[in-house]
Amino acid sequence: MNTKSDNSKLKCFLLTVLAMVSAIFMGYSQEETSEKGLKDYYKDHFPVGVAVSPRALEGESAELILKHFNSMTPENVMKMGPIHPEENRYNWEYADQIADFAVQHNLKLRGHALCWHNQAGNWLFKDDDGNQVSKEVLLQRLKDHITTVVKRYKGKIYAWDVVNEAISDNEDEFLRDSPWYQICGEDFIIKAFEYAHEADPDLKLFYNDYSAVHPIKRDKIYKLVKMIQDAGVPIHGIGIQGHFSIYEPTEQELRDAIEKYASLGVEVQITELDVSVYHKEHSQRDPLPKDEDDAFKPEQEQKQIEQYEMLFRVFRDFGDTLTGVTFWNISDRHSWLDNFPVRGRKNYPLLFNEEFQPKKAYYKVIDFEE
Ligand code: GLA
Repeated sequence: MNTKSDNSKLKCFLLTVLAMVSAIFMGYSQEETSEKGLKDYYKDHFPVGVAVSPRALEGESAELILKHFNSMTPENVMKMGPIHPEENRYNWEYADQIADFAVQHNLKLRGHALCWHNQAGNWLFKDDDGNQVSKEVLLQRLKDHITTVVKRYKGKIYAWDVVNEAISDNEDEFLRDSPWYQICGEDFIIKAFEYAHEADPDLKLFYNDYSAVHPIKRDKIYKLVKMIQDAGVPIHGIGIQGHFSIYEPTEQELRDAIEKYASLGVEVQITELDVSVYHKEHSQRDPLPKDEDDAFKPEQEQKQIEQYEMLFRVFRDFGDTLTGVTFWNISDRHSWLDNFPVRGRKNYPLLFNEEFQPKKAYYKVIDFEE
């Protein structure tokens, strides 16, 4: 008799029974839990998206994407630097893979991002002698970049983050002191929206930023978007990145921000959702002795379940204003938060665990009355 294999069969049987019992206990039939994905529960509310790399479009992670999500955002490959590393060279290969997968499987695709101060090639800001370029040269480069990239994905991408993170985090400063700002002043923002609209008038154009529910930054984003509207340039939405944590934001802060943005007559999307199990910090650093160990603790899990429940309850309340929720990465197996802000510290910010299985927070997110 093969005791080892009998034991593992028994274990497998017991695990299956346990999964069925807990699904029934939580009010779902087994068929429902195995066939419906996040996107199906939210089909009457908003598309549910996920940020991906080309590598994620194969095997187990591709299955997870297709089961749970009906929208995607390229995590890195459409950013200025990766897609346009030198003045006369575009790198289409990886971006095309993502666009083709979206078309093939009928997923919506958000573009990210046409103008950002990070992950942008240094060549943009310098001439052949290494001197800073003039405003005219930089705006022409921005126009060429935006026109070429937008036209390539016309009809495949329905919305672009046109400008990413242009607002300053300093309380007494409006716009971030980036090379874009130093060379062009605030004009680069308005121009970016103008160029994107010219390249594809059917696109939805978004301004996207983090800490966008924080009252001081929220009011600056409001002011910027109003400025774009007053200049007569099209802007259709505000992206609240949504790099949240189990400690923030509060429900009130979130509601106030969405309401304030909606009062401008634009759509709101949550574009980069994750719920870190640590306090938020905004600069990268090495681990310190005071850091807690990085196991996923029951108290963190409980707080994360409550935070996800609150977030999706609020998202559902905003009806037509809230037109998309996109997660930043697929599962806890890999997230950018494993290295940021603390290098090498594991985080558990998503709805699927390291084995790609739904976490308890997932069941809270799908547990609502239609
Ligand atoms: C910001 C950017 C994203 C990404 C994250 C970290 O939120 O908008 O593109 O770089 O930081 O992954």
